[in-house]
Amino acid sequence: MRTFYLETFGCQMNEHDSEKVAGLLMAQGLERVEDPWQADLVLYNTCSIREKAERKVFSRLSEFRRPRGEGKLLGVLGCVAQREGLRIFERAPQVRLVCGSASYPQLPELLARAEAGERRLSGLDLAVESTFETPLVCRDSPYRAYVTIVEGCDKACAYCVVPSARGGERSRSSASVMAEIRQLAQQGYTEVQLLGQNVNCYRDPSPAGWDFVTLLARVAQVPGLRRVRFVTSHPRDFGREIVAAIDTYPVLAEHVHLPVQSGSSRVLASMQRLYNREEYLQRIEWIRSARRQIAISTDVIVGFPGETEADFQQTLSLLEEVRFDSAFSFKYSRRPLTAAAARDAQIPEEEKSRRLAALLERQRAIQLRRNGELVGTVQEVLVEDYHPATGQWVGRTSQNRVLNFASAAGDGRSLLGRYVQARVTRAGPNSLVGESLPDLV
Ligand code: 5AD
Ligand code: SF4
Repeated sequence: MRTFYLETFGCQMNEHDSEKVAGLLMAQGLERVEDPWQADLVLYNTCSIREKAERKVFSRLSEFRRPRGEGKLLGVLGCVAQREGLRIFERAPQVRLVCGSASYPQLPELLARAEAGERRLSGLDLAVESTFETPLVCRDSPYRAYVTIVEGCDKACAYCVVPSARGGERSRSSASVMAEIRQLAQQGYTEVQLLGQNVNCYRDPSPAGWDFVTLLARVAQVPGLRRVRFVTSHPRDFGREIVAAIDTYPVLAEHVHLPVQSGSSRVLASMQRLYNREEYLQRIEWIRSARRQIAISTDVIVGFPGETEADFQQTLSLLEEVRFDSAFSFKYSRRPLTAAAARDAQIPEEEKSRRLAALLERQRAIQLRRNGELVGTVQEVLVEDYHPATGQWVGRTSQNRVLNFASAAGDGRSLLGRYVQARVTRAGPNSLVGESLPDLV
């Protein structure tokens, strides 16, 4: 095998796993190609969180049925691989490799066995201690680097496949996290994003025994870093000390992603989320009473089994009460082997769609108002992109808002990767428009 193609579905954890898998394959001498038909090895790193994501993978795989896919080694990685396991070989016989994220360290060995002629290979063990470390990570962005601090999840939310797709919680040693981050800073990365299904539960397995807040404080003091972000926080484990840390270390970005899922305590209990509406709002109050202005984003599920119109109205009222800076909202998707899948009182599809539309509309209005409040302010953005057609640069604020701006400097200098001060002139629901301040570039 000389070339590989790798496509990723799903969350940031998966994107970052793919950066590691790509690094691993490149270290073995394989070259990455952008067209699956040019590749000897075709890999899909899959997501299982909602049915739609899973269906997409099987439709991709069907393109590689014989005779078209002859001669290629087709592999399924990630959450669908872990959850479906050997059943994938039945459903898609053209697949030769199935490997879940906990088994990626075995990938080189599995691939060597495939090359030696073994027809079907799998890495599905979830009972592993070590987290996935590779000497080479092929990073997608030259400015922002993702760093895993904890893998898997020990919670049991009734709708969620993650514990069965990624196994139990495993924290990485603080020495290893710090070494990676110091190296990234030396390489010129200025933004680091700490990743975990539940970062608040980080617990250093080495004798140093750091908790999440200690880790945050240490990372924030690494020379060279300008922004540190972390996702995802679980409301149950989100303490005031995190807010205090953000207030103490300017390098910690002014943003917290705190998925609420529902505004109804009854539904939250039924989801096994381990907090109620009041406890969630308490966290919001902590965040809002910080000295710095910390943006809050969230995830919401509509149409969870048993969700009544009154429950849904409570979710809408929570949106108004918190005024989230952004929200990702989803129709409940029934996932096999989760606690909620077997429940009666599943909500009809049309009703879920109606609730989702109502929620999106409400949240859009909130975001428009919130973003509107920023018109006239000066924001510091990390410049990530340039659109030649409009002559606009694309940056991201500390609060994680996208800001499109024209550069007043206008001398053709590239601003990519730089931190620029820009004044906000207009606001939409999903982004800001502005212009850079020439003297502050
Ligand atoms: N159906 C719909 N949305 C889900 N999520 C997780 N599981 C499901 C499901 N079965 C959403 C949650 C989570 C986000 C990553 O995806 O809101 O926070
Ligand atoms: Fe999808 Fe969840 Fe797996 Fe991420 S952890 S890829 S969201 S199933």
